[in-house]
Amino acid sequence: MPFSVLCNNIEDTEKLSEKFAKAVCDNGAFVCLFGDVGAGKTAFTKLVCKYLKVKEKVTSPSFVIINEYKSGIIPVYHFDLYRLEKEGISTIINELDEYSEGRILTFVEWAEFSQNNLPFDRIEIQINYIDETKREFIFTSFGDKSNNTLKRLGL
Ligand SMILES: Nc1ncnc2c1ncn2[C@@H]1O[C@H](COP(=O)(O)OP(=O)(O)OP(=O)(O)O)[C@@H](O)[C@H]1O
Ligand SMILES: [Mg+2]
Repeated sequence: MPFSVLCNNIEDTEKLSEKFAKAVCDNGAFVCLFGDVGAGKTAFTKLVCKYLKVKEKVTSPSFVIINEYKSGIIPVYHFDLYRLEKEGISTIINELDEYSEGRILTFVEWAEFSQNNLPFDRIEIQINYIDETKREFIFTSFGDKSNNTLKRLGL
């Protein structure tokens, strides 16, 4: 069942990110991030990376397709499908399944551009802009691994 978390400010989002990092660090996860421009998809990714002790600078992967961060507790892969051409997308979507296996954490911003080629076992996070500092996070999971991970969030 989907559930939602209201973050009144960036500090609340920090706390949520810390819990999320703890919940995913044992088994990894494939995470799809939905929400308008400026909703906070990259901000959430950055904060989760911070709590996974990623040392590299986490930036929006808009123009490089994918960023990889190997210095943290688990490897993190960060996609942004928004600015990819159709051709680029078809190359990537065939590979997305590989990023859902093993103890790795994958974030996909603008996952709606994946043309329904998402791995079955995944966590979806819809981030809604409420006002300048307030955001609503709606979590949904598909598959045993992701269902268990969201249970560990304890929300
Ligand atoms: N409670 C909050 N949670 C998350 N971000 C917040 C919050 N309050 C303010 N912000 C700010 O909102 C902005 C979100 O921008 P961000 O780049 O993460 O959006 P995005 O969803 O990745 O957009 P894009 O589609 O362009 O990639 C950041 O500047 C962040 O600091
Ligand atoms: Mg972004």
